[in-house]
Amino acid sequence: MNESNPVLQIVIASTRPGRVGPAFAEWFVKVAEGHGGFVVETVDLAERNLPFLDEPKHPKLREYQHQHTKDWSATVDRADAFVFVTPEYNYGYNAVLKNAIDFLHQEWADKAVGFLGYGGVGAGTRAIQQLKQVVTTLRMVPIFEAVNVPFAAGKLTPDGEVAADPQLDAAAVVMLDELLRVTKLLR
Ligand SMILES: Cc1cc2nc3c(=O)[nH]c(=O)nc-3n(C[C@H](O)[C@H](O)[C@H](O)COP(=O)(O)O)c2cc1C
Repeated sequence: MNESNPVLQIVIASTRPGRVGPAFAEWFVKVAEGHGGFVVETVDLAERNLPFLDEPKHPKLREYQHQHTKDWSATVDRADAFVFVTPEYNYGYNAVLKNAIDFLHQEWADKAVGFLGYGGVGAGTRAIQQLKQVVTTLRMVPIFEAVNVPFAAGKLTPDGEVAADPQLDAAAVVMLDELLRVTKLLR
């Protein structure tokens, strides 16, 4: 890892007890560390435990009243790029992620974002499509290359880890390459 590399935050969107999101995030972190292009951080929205948006002023003003918002702002600010690890719920992404996005504004801007979507038959595809529409409002740059995992729970070993899958690894590396290319352009 090179300290001057851009910071990539892997954001775990699911907060449900028994969620599979962290397993896919842990797998992705390993691939990203092996890739070597980023300083990799994990951000778990379950640990962050933000309330529903409770700031009186529009986030673009950056006049935050609550410590949880200031902390969230500082976290997102230090990232150069993101991978949203998103489940698909009812043909969309989850409300916790939308809330976390809505809390901030400038902190997201001019940064590339890739998606690791997973679910049942939908493989996270519809969640990702919805996210692309939302993130462009914040001047984020969504990349085309994505990791999609259908029937995600079935891809885990009895220990709860993502079972070895060269195709999944290859998809992750392609996404990381593109994320790095776009991040360098944006910097
Ligand atoms: C409320 C809810 C809605 C779901 N809707 C969909 C869906 O529309 N499409 C799909 O492919 N899977 C759907 N699923 C399956 C989830 O994507 C799958 O259970 C996944 O493991 C959820 O992620 P998590 O375990 O990290 O929370 C749904 C699951 C839940 C709990």
